[in-house]
Amino acid sequence: MNLFDLVAIPNNQTTLKLFEILLFLGSSIFLTYIAVFWGSLLNAIYYHRKAWKNKDLNYFQIAKEYIRFVNTNNVALYGFGLFPFVGIAFIFVQFTPEHIKDINTLLIIGAFLLGLGLFLARIYKHFIHQAQTPEAEFTSQFYFRNFPINYAATSVLVMFIAVWTFMGAMVVTTNPENYLKPLSYFEMFFSLSTIFRLLVFFLFSVLISNLGFIFFNFLSEERENKPANFENSDGFIQNTLARSLVYAVFIPIFLLIVYALTPHSAVTFSYYFVFTISIIVLLVAIVLNFYSYRTLDLNFTKYAFFIFVGFMVAFVGTETFLFSTANKVQEFKIAKNYEVFHTEMLASLGRGGVEINGEEIYKAKCVACHAFDQKVVGPAHKEVLKKYGDRKADMIKFVLNPVKVDPAYPPMPNQGLKPKEAEAVVEYLYEHYGPMIK
Ligand code: HEC
Repeated sequence: MNLFDLVAIPNNQTTLKLFEILLFLGSSIFLTYIAVFWGSLLNAIYYHRKAWKNKDLNYFQIAKEYIRFVNTNNVALYGFGLFPFVGIAFIFVQFTPEHIKDINTLLIIGAFLLGLGLFLARIYKHFIHQAQTPEAEFTSQFYFRNFPINYAATSVLVMFIAVWTFMGAMVVTTNPENYLKPLSYFEMFFSLSTIFRLLVFFLFSVLISNLGFIFFNFLSEERENKPANFENSDGFIQNTLARSLVYAVFIPIFLLIVYALTPHSAVTFSYYFVFTISIIVLLVAIVLNFYSYRTLDLNFTKYAFFIFVGFMVAFVGTETFLFSTANKVQEFKIAKNYEVFHTEMLASLGRGGVEINGEEIYKAKCVACHAFDQKVVGPAHKEVLKKYGDRKADMIKFVLNPVKVDPAYPPMPNQGLKPKEAEAVVEYLYEHYGPMIK
C-alpha cells in the first residue's frame, strides 16, 4: 500500500465538488501571494546588484524595501504560501488516478522546495536588513558581495520550480485524455501549455510586485519608513510603472495562446465565460496601469494592483473549470468506489435493499455529465434522443455497455447499472425529455 492511498479518503460527489472549490481558493491565494513574493525577490536582487555595480546606496535602499515589502511575518509566509500549496497537493491526491500518481510525488517535492525558498528568502532578508548603516558596509563590501544574493537567487530558483510543478500538474489534469494514459513528463514540464502558463505567472509576478511596491511605499503620506529620498523619485515611479505596463500587455497575448492550446473536449460554456471575464478584467487593469503611468496619480496604481489580483483569481477560475470537466470520468469512478464502500457499510449495519427508480438513478448517475440541451461532459440528451429515435433498446444496450462513439468526446465510463436499472433510466429519459424534442 502506498502512502497516497492512505491520504486518499473515500469521497462522494459532494466532497469532490467541495475539494474543487478548495482547489480554486487555495490556488488563488497561493499564486497571488507567491507572485508578489517572488516578483519582489527578483526586484530585490536586481536592485541589490545594481547598487553594487554603481556603488549607489539608493538602489540598495530600494532592494531593502522590496524585501521588506513582502517578507513581513511568518503567518503570511507560511499561511498564504506554503499551507495552500500543501492543501493543493492533498486535493490532487484525491483526484489523480493510478497512472498519473507521480504528480503527487512531484507536488510533495514542490512543497519542500517552496518551504526551502521561503526560508532562504528570510535569511536573505536577515542579511540585508542587518546592514543598518550601509555607508559603513560599503567599505567592508560584505553586503555588496554576491554572498547574500546567492540566498535570494536560490530562493527564486526553487520557488520557481515549485510553481512550475504546480502549473505542470494543472496542465496534465485539465486535459481529459490524460486520465486514460500514463503521465507524460514532457507534457507536464515542457509542453507549450505549461510554458505559456509559466510566462503568464512570470509577467504577473513582476508587474504585481512593481505596482504593489509603488502604491504601498509612495501612496500613503503617513507611512514612516518611506524609502529614503530616491534621487528623482518621480522618475523612479514612472519607470517602474512603465515596466509593469510593458509586462502587462504581453499577458493577454499569452493567455490567448493558452486558450488555443486548451483541449476542445475540456472547453465548456462556464470555462469560456470566465475566460472572457478574465480578459476583460485584465484589460481594465492595463488601462489603469497606463493612466497611473501617464498622470502619476498613485490611486490608479492601487486600483490597477487590486484589479490585476482579480484577474489572477479569474484565471485560476478558468483552470478550475477545466479541471472539473476533465476529471469528470475519474470523479465518477471515485464516487462509485464510495458507493460500494457506503453500501458495504450499510449492509454491515443490516440495512440495504434498493428499489429501482429511473429518475433517482438518473439524478444520481447521469446529471454530472449530461444535460438536456447543452453539452456537459457527454452530449446533450436532445441530440441523443433524436439520434436514437425509437431505438430505445439500443440506448439501453449502450448505457449497459458504453462503447466509444464520437471522437469529440471522451469515452463514457461504464455506469455499472443492472439491466433493470438501465431500462428504468432510459425509460425515464424518454418519458421526461422525449416530449421536449421536436
Ligand atoms: C462521467 C461522465 C458520464 C456519466 C456519469 C454518464 N455519461 Fe453518458 N456519456 C458520456 C460521454 C463522454 C458520452 C459520449 C461518448 C462517446 O461519444 O463516445 C456519453 C454518451 C451517452 C449517450 C449517447 C451515446 C451515443 O450513441 O451517442 C447516452 C445515451 C448516454 N451517454 C446516457 C447516459 C446515461 C443514461 C447515464 C446515467 C446512467 C450517463 N450517460 C452517465 C459521459 C457520461
